[in-house]
Amino acid sequence: MSEEEIFQLEKRAFFSKTWLFVCHQSRFGKPGDYHAFDVAGISFFVVLGRDMKLRGFHNVCRHRAYTVVRKSCGTSTRFSCKYHGWQYDDKGGLVKAPKFDESPGFVRDENGLFEVKLIETREGLVFVNFDASTMKLPFNNVKSHVDLGNCSWVDGMEVTCRTNWKTVANEFSNQAQWSQSPFGWFSALRKSKIVRLLGPLSSIKELDDDLWCTMVLLPRSSSEVIVRCDLYAKEGQVAPAKTLEKRKWMLEQELMAVTKSGAEEKSLTGQRYFAYQCGGRTIDLFAILAQHQRSEKMAKRKLQPAIRLTGTADIDTEAEALCDALEGAADAPSLEMCSRMSSFPHTVEW
Ligand code: FES
Repeated sequence: MSEEEIFQLEKRAFFSKTWLFVCHQSRFGKPGDYHAFDVAGISFFVVLGRDMKLRGFHNVCRHRAYTVVRKSCGTSTRFSCKYHGWQYDDKGGLVKAPKFDESPGFVRDENGLFEVKLIETREGLVFVNFDASTMKLPFNNVKSHVDLGNCSWVDGMEVTCRTNWKTVANEFSNQAQWSQSPFGWFSALRKSKIVRLLGPLSSIKELDDDLWCTMVLLPRSSSEVIVRCDLYAKEGQVAPAKTLEKRKWMLEQELMAVTKSGAEEKSLTGQRYFAYQCGGRTIDLFAILAQHQRSEKMAKRKLQPAIRLTGTADIDTEAEALCDALEGAADAPSLEMCSRMSSFPHTVEW
């Protein structure tokens, strides 16, 4: 398999059905606060509803799959798709569908945004899972071992690393192991007090008593990954500007070093092994991919756990015909195309 084929298999077998940490709940201060993300082309956003509940939604319009939320973050309790004006509320419900509202047989309640499974832990860590099955998915609670009470977001940055996501994930895993070893604890070179994995794509570090950061990987392709770094501080105890600047500089250096080592590794080998600890168990990515491949062979088709089925092929065809009739357009973008359009501009500035 080519690197890209492996990446697509990872998307189906792993990213689509694994609990992934995205951010801390303190990033959502008031109703309507939202943040949008993209993991391996799966575009989604998390919003704090007026009922103060966090919900996640696929960032894909139910009309013709255009991107609904186009900014990386903001505040709104209504989300309008710019293409034909369908509008959704903070619970994902469709509230406006021009032309369709009067169409016989059109059920507004059945055309809300597709919800993404979301769990917020007691520590305020927010995890999502794209698995579309109706089954309750097991969640191994992850303990950060960092005091996250009464904290607030201080600053953040995103860095594009031209390497495979597993290179950076391996680095997170190594840092977490090192931090828990006696050598890590006594090392004079130790830069972070505690480092813990929050799943396969993220880690949390305690930098100082009142300052900590999360690193989240957002894989873009087999050879590119965005690293999202967020700094949080205890409320009312924001670190002095000088300390903050120093910490940010150190994190930038660390990310640059990872990127560099990733580029070097890429020139050596195309195969990368990746395993990580979760809930006291070792999760082996290679075994998960092999198992999924076996299932696909038996099913004689690609199995895509994140894909939502809206009904039978006939019903979908009828819906598509209705769209064409109402819009008089047959050149709307495909779902695949739209999910690629979803890329909001990634900042590299703090
Ligand atoms: S209103 Fe969203 S694609 Fe038409």
